[in-house]
Amino acid sequence: MKNICVIGVGYVGLVTAAAFADLGNRVIAVDISEEKIEGLRRGVMPIYEPGLAEMVQRNVRAGRLSFSTAYTEGLKDAEFVFICVGTPEGVDGEADLQYVRMAAETIAQLMDHPLIIINKSTVPVGTGDWVADIIRQNQIKPIDFAVVSCPEFLREGSAIHDFMSPDRTVLGSENRAAADAVAQLHLPLRAPIMVTDLRTAEMIKYASNAFLATKISFINEIANICESLGADVQEVARGMGFDKRIGSQFLNAGVGYGGSCFPKDVKALAYMAQVRGKHPQLLHAVMEINDFQRRVAVVKMRDLVGGDLQGCTIGLLGLAFKPGTDDMREAPSLTIAELLREAGATVRGYDPVAMDNVARTHPWIVLAENAYDLVTGCDGVIVVTEWNEFKQLDMERVRKLMTRPNLVDGRNIYDPVHMREMGFNYRAIGRGYNGEG
Ligand code: UDX
Repeated sequence: MKNICVIGVGYVGLVTAAAFADLGNRVIAVDISEEKIEGLRRGVMPIYEPGLAEMVQRNVRAGRLSFSTAYTEGLKDAEFVFICVGTPEGVDGEADLQYVRMAAETIAQLMDHPLIIINKSTVPVGTGDWVADIIRQNQIKPIDFAVVSCPEFLREGSAIHDFMSPDRTVLGSENRAAADAVAQLHLPLRAPIMVTDLRTAEMIKYASNAFLATKISFINEIANICESLGADVQEVARGMGFDKRIGSQFLNAGVGYGGSCFPKDVKALAYMAQVRGKHPQLLHAVMEINDFQRRVAVVKMRDLVGGDLQGCTIGLLGLAFKPGTDDMREAPSLTIAELLREAGATVRGYDPVAMDNVARTHPWIVLAENAYDLVTGCDGVIVVTEWNEFKQLDMERVRKLMTRPNLVDGRNIYDPVHMREMGFNYRAIGRGYNGEG
């Protein structure tokens, strides 16, 4: 059993705190947000993540997990401090490290015993050295510490699974003993543990996310080519995936990737390269294709309604950047909604869990109660997020509720033949000529 302090109770920090507590450690999670900490003490989660509330509440009851706004409380008995604060996109695309700096400075000023400080937030290559400098500069008196990079590979919507069953744990440090101590924390996960240097560990995170984003933009480019050649990208992806060197995952064509990671991380990696005189052509192409892909769905809908979206009512089925989360950061639905609005359409939206977030930031999107309410009176519907509850809708009822049966399947969740049999003017992404499947 170890004493762990986690700084930041966002998507990464809260999962990290709950999971390490679930493994039997004593964890104090610290955040500067009174609202979040008070809510967590009452069992209210600041984010939607399947299974998280139960894990948090169970470990709070067991006395392994607690929450505080006071760094002093979190650091008092800590042996390990995980920095899990946000690293949002800054100007020009580089990561904004103000929260990492604040955390490092506060830890340095308050620490009164040796600590192992672990960067779990996604940070630019070299940040580990920068954090060590900040700590040395801000300590009241010199106290031993080590910095370890331990990047997260958690997907929203399956973060607990990904934490408990990782493909690998990557650790980077100039202090091997510190890296080995952090490795011990991860032994119960029974996954490969790789120990390398700080910069390499930080780069593994960026390279991994950039590669996954590249796979997505690759299959979206193939989808667009399929539409000019009459091929079906879903079948193409299936045929490719049998090749173990390619793999079948992350080859789902659609309206592109969103979220708090891929957009930010690809841009940050390109920025890191550019400021050092490199020319990240491939990363720029990945971003360009992803931006274009959001437009594809709107262009298809404009064609279906007869060439002009002015005065049309268009419904968006699904708003979150992916199923299983309420996260709207960089969600394709927001770009699609803005494009529709600019074209003069009224935009309606429905999402099983993300609606509160949308209502706060996009009050002009008319929110519906459920999928059937969403489609009612629409001249067209675009499937943006592939929630399971959309996959078996009563299509007869949907068609009757719509003013016009125009449907763009932005995530290829329906069967084109069936949809046409049901009387829909149906378009998909990369499925036959012009996505007509
Ligand atoms: C990602 C990485 O998967 C994870 O390892 C990293 O730690 C954080 O970033 P996340 O962004 O939560 O996780 O979700 P992910 O499941 O990777 O999907 C990212 C985006 O790609 C979503 O918008 C999703 O809709 C899109 N996507 C994913 C596709 O468009 N096609 C695919 O085949 C897969």
